Amino acid sequence: MSVFSDIDLTNVPKHIAIIMDGNGRWAKKQGQMRLHGHSVGVESVRGTLKAAQKMGVKYLTLYAFSTENWNRPKEEVDGLMKLLVQSISNEVEELNESGVRMLNIGDNSQLPVDAQEELESAMKRTEHNDNIHLVLALNYSSRWEITRAMTEIAQDVKDNKLDPSAINDEVVSSYMATAKSGIPDPELLIRTSGEYRISNFLLWQIAYTEFHFTDILWPDFRDEDLFKAVLDYQSRERRFGQITEQLK
Ligand code: IPE
Ligand code: IPE
Ligand code: MG
Repeated sequence: MSVFSDIDLTNVPKHIAIIMDGNGRWAKKQGQMRLHGHSVGVESVRGTLKAAQKMGVKYLTLYAFSTENWNRPKEEVDGLMKLLVQSISNEVEELNESGVRMLNIGDNSQLPVDAQEELESAMKRTEHNDNIHLVLALNYSSRWEITRAMTEIAQDVKDNKLDPSAINDEVVSSYMATAKSGIPDPELLIRTSGEYRISNFLLWQIAYTEFHFTDILWPDFRDEDLFKAVLDYQSRERRFGQITEQLK
């Protein structure tokens, strides 16, 4: 019996972010090349997206490639970029039909040209959809995003477009890649593969996010695992600095 029926559909996170980790170890366990793990990981993306849609999640952010991942062996980086182009090109029609809007919060400009073009065209193609936003964090890192935000803030102050005394939490947020695309902070962050770290992901946005860690390697992650993560989220008391009695 699916745990889906246990989920309170009135209290589903609007935004779930996932650090999809463990593709390499999964492949190694099968005696295969790391790239095979990445290919099979695409299946998990497909299933997870459908499961998120089923629950009514509005934003699903997937950490797909970090700025640090460029330091991997060239063969793996090239393979990942190729897989990205292929996957987007294979999936875009179906994504579009099921109301998915694609976005990227990473630095698109530093991707290989064919990947940039594929991504741009998929984003353009799906820009009128709003069933769910599939937000890729591709060539993304939080420190890159925050540094860019600081540079832009400094520039706007210099150009007299922003008064330093007006800079508050909301203003800073508005310079983040997420806010620029209207993406709210995630209520739930999932990391697979048994690692307990954030790896430079959404540092600003996860100030009050609930974390769910699982040992499952990303290629083995199924819709039931997403449902379980949401159930875990629903068992938490989110206090935001207050005490239990104040929450009623
Ligand atoms: C996550 O899986 C996918 C990317 C980082 C692109 P890994 O490739 O990090 O897999 P492990 O952590 O080595 O098992
Ligand atoms: C984080 O995974 C990045 C992505 C999932 C894209 P990594 O496998 O690169 O993270 P570390 O190096 O283990 O922290
Ligand atoms: Mg990893």
